[in-house]
Amino acid sequence: MTTLQHRRIHLLFRLAVAAVLTLGAARVILDNLRNNYSILEWTISRRYSIRVPIEVSVDEEIEEGCDVFQGRWIWENATYPLYTEQSCPFLVKQTTCTRNGRLDSFYQNWRWQPHACDLPRFDGLKLMEMLRDKRLMFVGDSVQRSMFESMICLVDSALPRVVRRSLQRIPPRKVFRVEEFNASIEYYWAPFLVESISDHATNHTVMKRSVKLDSVAKHSKEWEGAHVLIFESYIWWMYKPTINATYGSLDDVQEYNVTTAYRSAMETWANWVDSRVNRETQKIFFATMSPTHLWSWEWKHGTEGNCFNETHPIEGPYWGTGSNLDIMGIVEDVLGRVKVNVTVLNITQLSEYRKDGHASIFGERKGKLLTKEQRSDPKNFADCIHWCLPGVPDTWNEILYALLLQDYRDQSII
Ligand SMILES: *[C@@H]1O[C@H](CO)[C@@H](O)[C@H](O)[C@H]1NC(C)=O
Ligand SMILES: *[C@@H]1O[C@H](CO)[C@@H](O)[C@H](O)[C@H]1NC(C)=O
Ligand SMILES: *[C@@H]1O[C@H](CO)[C@@H](O)[C@H](O)[C@H]1NC(C)=O
Ligand SMILES: *[C@@H]1O[C@H](CO)[C@@H](O)[C@H](O)[C@H]1NC(C)=O
Ligand SMILES: *[C@@H]1O[C@H](CO)[C@@H](O)[C@H](O)[C@H]1NC(C)=O
Ligand SMILES: *[C@@H]1O[C@H](CO)[C@@H](O)[C@H](O)[C@H]1NC(C)=O
Ligand SMILES: *[C@@H]1O[C@H](CO)[C@@H](O)[C@H](O)[C@H]1NC(C)=O
Ligand SMILES: *[C@@H]1O[C@H](CO)[C@@H](O)[C@H](O)[C@H]1NC(C)=O
Ligand SMILES: *[C@@H]1O[C@H](CO)[C@@H](O)[C@H](O)[C@H]1NC(C)=O
Repeated sequence: MTTLQHRRIHLLFRLAVAAVLTLGAARVILDNLRNNYSILEWTISRRYSIRVPIEVSVDEEIEEGCDVFQGRWIWENATYPLYTEQSCPFLVKQTTCTRNGRLDSFYQNWRWQPHACDLPRFDGLKLMEMLRDKRLMFVGDSVQRSMFESMICLVDSALPRVVRRSLQRIPPRKVFRVEEFNASIEYYWAPFLVESISDHATNHTVMKRSVKLDSVAKHSKEWEGAHVLIFESYIWWMYKPTINATYGSLDDVQEYNVTTAYRSAMETWANWVDSRVNRETQKIFFATMSPTHLWSWEWKHGTEGNCFNETHPIEGPYWGTGSNLDIMGIVEDVLGRVKVNVTVLNITQLSEYRKDGHASIFGERKGKLLTKEQRSDPKNFADCIHWCLPGVPDTWNEILYALLLQDYRDQSII
């Protein structure tokens, strides 16, 4: 047994004891200087909480100048995935590819290795300690929702069983709460970030879109209490090259070029960031587009398929046409002019390699698993947008974690 496992079991044992003895009536503070999870102090209060020391060891630091988004995928089947479909009760059907019938599980076994440094190993307890008394919120579309689900699975698998956690669905939000840390990890549905007719959490369709380019207040009032915010918005814009939108009067619906509309929406969002984000207490991330793998000729000349039946990552360099460079340029441009520090989670390139990571025919269509007939027609029914879990979004979260840990060490706000 490694010392780490040993410590974990130790902690688990203590917590179990605390839970049994106290029935929620004691406050257990686990604290120690040298990562020694022992109980130092008991005080009576209405609830108990755990304190986990956060030490950022030298090998958990991201070396200065290292671009964690430049790297390669390494086969690491001994330690990956970091959780399993069976171990995480919060996964939705859309992402449980193996349960849905996928036979190869290679896609779960890749680790992202930046060229210039190592990522720290994800430690869910440390993350919860960093999030003590805080709310972390993912905002965006269904791709972002899988990042949220990945995150709660990563955390869930690290928490001792006695730690109370819950997942509540309060459309358009999902809230994962961990009582002992008074912390929550949340998801907020806003596929365009700004307001739109697609804001209903379940009753929406990409076929009929109308976006209010200058309005974000209905959403943003829900964001204002969050301490860490991770935004993302891409795929819903790309359904057609033009989009119906209003700017000002709601009676004046016009067709806009998507790039024009996207820039306008981003500026509305950026104005909110600059006028309402509290730099002392809030930290903002923006995730770049999640790539699609809709056309196999892009990585395998002469073929006419899509991500279906792909079992291995692309060995770089590769950039698919699904990842629109104009949109990337707009993101860069707008974020470059925001006065508040917004950290870019530039996950596009690393995910570009992962043609094998999508749900393919083992996902959903309109909320239902594919039928046998649909499965036999991957050309029309494979989902090459969403990702299987465990899978690629776990890596996005490992990077997010690494950056949060770095900030924590630098003693800025988390
Ligand atoms: C942890 O702390 C306790 C009490 O402070 C001490 O007895 C024990 O030796 C420590 N264990 C480790 C592994 O440092
Ligand atoms: C890991 O992959 C290697 C081949 O790359 C294989 O021989 C081994 O059995 C695999 N181990 C596990 C635990 O799947
Ligand atoms: C729990 O966290 C919230 C912020 O998310 C904070 O407002 C509240 O004071 C915390 N409660 C306690 C008991 O610390
Ligand atoms: C979904 O929304 C549309 C229009 O926004 C409405 O006509 C329809 O009744 C709604 N369906 C359900 C099931 O609520
Ligand atoms: C915009 O709305 C009009 C009227 O509903 C519709 O005919 C047109 O197809 C829509 N355009 C797009 C790009 O969705
Ligand atoms: C919209 O996009 C098309 C093709 O990308 C371009 O030709 C046209 O000039 C654009 N229109 C505006 C108003 O930007
Ligand atoms: C999937 O790929 C394997 C190996 O590349 C191939 O043997 C098989 O025929 C493919 N299946 C389908 C349905 O295309
Ligand atoms: C993200 O990284 C790509 C290279 O992989 C770069 O071209 C792009 O400008 C970056 N985007 C942002 C918003 O920083
Ligand atoms: C914003 O980030 C830059 C570089 O990461 C840093 O030098 C600067 O101090 C930050 N500013 C604020 C206000 O946090």
